[in-house]
Amino acid sequence: MAKDLYTSGAYLEKNPTWHVDESPWKVKEIMRMFQRQSIAPKTICEVGCGAGEVLRLLQMRLDSKCIFSGYEISPQAFELSKSRENDRLHFKLQNFMEEKSVYFDLILVLDVLEHMENPYDLLRDMRLPRFGRVGEEKSGTLSEGGDDGKTPTKLYEGIQARGSTSCRNE
Ligand SMILES: C[S@@+](CC[C@H](N)C(=O)[O-])C[C@H]1O[C@@H](n2cnc3c(N)ncnc32)[C@H](O)[C@@H]1O
Repeated sequence: MAKDLYTSGAYLEKNPTWHVDESPWKVKEIMRMFQRQSIAPKTICEVGCGAGEVLRLLQMRLDSKCIFSGYEISPQAFELSKSRENDRLHFKLQNFMEEKSVYFDLILVLDVLEHMENPYDLLRDMRLPRFGRVGEEKSGTLSEGGDDGKTPTKLYEGIQARGSTSCRNE
């Protein structure tokens, strides 16, 4: 998908709510994933956060000390996200692939990778390859960790039923 589709205003014209209506379902699936993996991240980033509704709903369900950061390349989506901002929920108009020195307990990528010409560019920029396993696909799970105590047990879990994905970066 051409990047300027998101930045030119054409995407907003076709998707005036920027998928906000799907956010409750996505958050339900994310919460299920947290429980399954027994994780309680304190800093959460969403790459391609759209209108920011997923992060807003997550903030309501997670520890109040959690810090949320959303990245968007689309000025139109960024504009929609602004009303959701608060002291622990921030949005940035910035291509995540050009963001070099940030760290988060968890990086969510929902409904983004499958629209990219080369999703591995983004995965590489999230520095997943330092764990060495990106590209191994086993029944919906990429990058299963090793037994060396260093690699995380699961880096990347697909929410496959509706085609969204999320990914954990440690
Ligand atoms: C199909 S929308 C999904 C929006 C939201 N994640 C959701 O699930 O409702 C894909 C979004 O990813 C954004 N995007 C694509 N590549 C990006 C990048 N490198 N950095 C930040 N945002 C990006 C687009 O602008 C668009 O808003």
